Amino acid sequence: MSEIQWTDAASFDEVPADDVIGKIVDGRDLALYNVEGEVFATDNLCTHGHARLCEGFLEGHEIECPLHQGKFDVRNGAPTCAPVTEAIRSYPVKIEAGRVYLALG
Ligand code: FES
Repeated sequence: MSEIQWTDAASFDEVPADDVIGKIVDGRDLALYNVEGEVFATDNLCTHGHARLCEGFLEGHEIECPLHQGKFDVRNGAPTCAPVTEAIRSYPVKIEAGRVYLALG
């Protein structure tokens, strides 16, 4: 089995508490969330239309899309509120020495 490849995505301090930022990592448009000090990562583009989730509203573990207010659970990308029906891709995260690493696979 191959080892997980971890990609350095950001400094932990870059991801504000209880907020979301957009970040291009390895050419991918990603959203990084800080929920009570725990960081989560998903694709940034909503699965419903052309909207970036980093411009949405984070409440607890839910990100609300800025365009039609669909919601996803940032922990696993699952849709939690219409009109979104398709999950968004989420990525494993680890924090080491103040850096945020993602397994982009
Ligand atoms: Fe995100 Fe429609 S584009 S809910």
